[in-house]
Amino acid sequence: MSLNDIDRALVMRRAAALPRYTSYPTANHFQSSVGPVDYRNWLAGLADDAALSLYLHIPFCNEMCWYCACSTKATRRYDPVARYLDTLEAEIATVAGLVPRRHRLTHLHWGGGSPDILAVADIVRLGAALKANFHVEAATEFAVEIDPRLMTADKADAFVGIGVNRISIGVQDFDPAVQAAIGRMQSYDVSKASLDLFRDRGISSVNMDLVYGLPRQTEHSLAQTISQVIELSPDRIAIFGYAHLPQRAHNQKLIDEATLPGPIERFAMARRLTSQLAKAGYVQLGLDHFARRDDSLARLPLNRNFQGYTTDGADTLIGLGASAIGKLPQGYVQNAVTVADYTSRVAHNGLATARGWTLAPDDRLRAFVIERLMCDFAFSFAAIAANFGEADAHGLLREVDAMVADDPDGFLTASDDGFELTPRGRPFVRSICARFDAYLNPAAGARHSMSV
Ligand SMILES: C[S@@+](CC[C@H](N)C(=O)[O-])C[C@H]1O[C@@H](n2cnc3c(N)ncnc32)[C@H](O)[C@@H]1O
Ligand code: SF4
Repeated sequence: MSLNDIDRALVMRRAAALPRYTSYPTANHFQSSVGPVDYRNWLAGLADDAALSLYLHIPFCNEMCWYCACSTKATRRYDPVARYLDTLEAEIATVAGLVPRRHRLTHLHWGGGSPDILAVADIVRLGAALKANFHVEAATEFAVEIDPRLMTADKADAFVGIGVNRISIGVQDFDPAVQAAIGRMQSYDVSKASLDLFRDRGISSVNMDLVYGLPRQTEHSLAQTISQVIELSPDRIAIFGYAHLPQRAHNQKLIDEATLPGPIERFAMARRLTSQLAKAGYVQLGLDHFARRDDSLARLPLNRNFQGYTTDGADTLIGLGASAIGKLPQGYVQNAVTVADYTSRVAHNGLATARGWTLAPDDRLRAFVIERLMCDFAFSFAAIAANFGEADAHGLLREVDAMVADDPDGFLTASDDGFELTPRGRPFVRSICARFDAYLNPAAGARHSMSV
């Protein structure tokens, strides 16, 4: 599927370094003036039966993949992981003492890094610590991110035994040339074996992570990877645009930039994979997620959080572990990023909150608009008026009118009740969100990834 000259000119004009809007304001604006005292007060203010979602971060991998932008580090020895678990258990106990006693736990997500680097006994121990402190129930959606190269049958037993009912498998790309260029060799058989381990144990809810825009990837090679993924028939597929930020993720300096596809190739890849997955029965959700029509992600209202797109509608996200981010009705909190800093803060304070953001009324309004655009490519003024009042809805309407009046590329349409992106505008949704972002600093381009 080739791009015509008009599309090419459009892509080149619109390709820019922009946030992925997993929060608003984005995490680079968080401030150290928000700390453990705020976090304790915010937790104390939650309703007694608040719905909670919990994210737990394991910042360790066997080795670093060259493309990785996650907060993690390589370790060949296990003792740093074991020591980290001691701290994590201490933080779990402190936070559990501060959350409402009658809370409901809707979602539990272990991410990283690679949670399956944990030894069997530690998977069991961490599962037990969470159960002893939070209301983990059969109805709790409990997901774990899996590096297939680390999986074994006894680890699968342990995960299923502690209540895991969803898994997310890191695939990235099946082409050996791409794998060599990203420092991650992982055969199709290894990925399939990890999937089978969970399917054999009754876990039917499976996501696979892929990345487009990787070095040496072509439209053709990616189509081949997608065909192989379709054969494995996951319920959900996340295909992230590669974020190349070597100034921040130093391991990415190992990537030969001359082998990276440019904006036009990236755009063509995204377009082709979308039509390939649509033909295979997957519905596109938001920018980079796909799900089978009968999957809850395709049926329930879509939301966005730090893990990407989710059905999670809880008002409160609790982040546990180094670098983890929490979201409360009052604002955001982030734990210290390095394991050393996290460990010493938990030892001294019980909590590791290092920075955050207190949401002002205008932040809430813009956060709502940006989340709806990222999820639905649209928002309704009725929803804004219902959530924020008529005055704010009118203020926003004036901003939208100005945007529609200055829309040379035909990305936007407005009606009496709403505002939506045209099919032509959808791939560029991040650039539309950026226009609602009151904090975006054009000079901060190096912090953000390519918007197409
Ligand atoms: C924590 S990892 C997944 C679990 C496990 N560690 C693994 O790699 O199999 C989360 C996902 O983030 C995505 N990711 C990591 N670095 C990225 C980057 N620079 N750009 C886009 N996506 C990236 C990958 O798809 C990866 O599977
Ligand atoms: S992609 Fe996964 S396995 Fe690779 S370094 Fe990142 S977190 Fe670790």
